[in-house]
Amino acid sequence: MSFGLKDNKCRFLVIFLQERQHKIIVMATDQYHEPAEELSQETRTFARMITSLIEEAEAISWYEQRISLEKDKQAKAVMENAQQEEFKHFGMDLEFLLRKKEKWKIVLQSILFKKGDIVELGEQGEEKVD
Ligand SMILES: [Fe+2]
Repeated sequence: MSFGLKDNKCRFLVIFLQERQHKIIVMATDQYHEPAEELSQETRTFARMITSLIEEAEAISWYEQRISLEKDKQAKAVMENAQQEEFKHFGMDLEFLLRKKEKWKIVLQSILFKKGDIVELGEQGEEKVD
């Protein structure tokens, strides 16, 4: 959820929540699907890392689109370098998450860096955790 500052209803809601010291509720709905205060610290960290993973994937996609349209070679090189950084960030986020979720790790071990039909590899991975 994001609030447009030009939107008077949203501005009023934010002021109301700040006055009532419920600003955390506004922030919580950005990142958490469930009430943050009911979630463990571990689950909140997991949720933050999932959000980071999504943001890194989005950044990779945005650079891919910009690179595909850029005509200036130097600008293109800078963006390719930046996209490479995002690959690393995505990989670190994913590794963190996989270390927390053994079943997820097992499924991905069956799919990633393997030759063959991706759907079949996915099915095999799923069977390993059933
Ligand atoms: Fe990044």
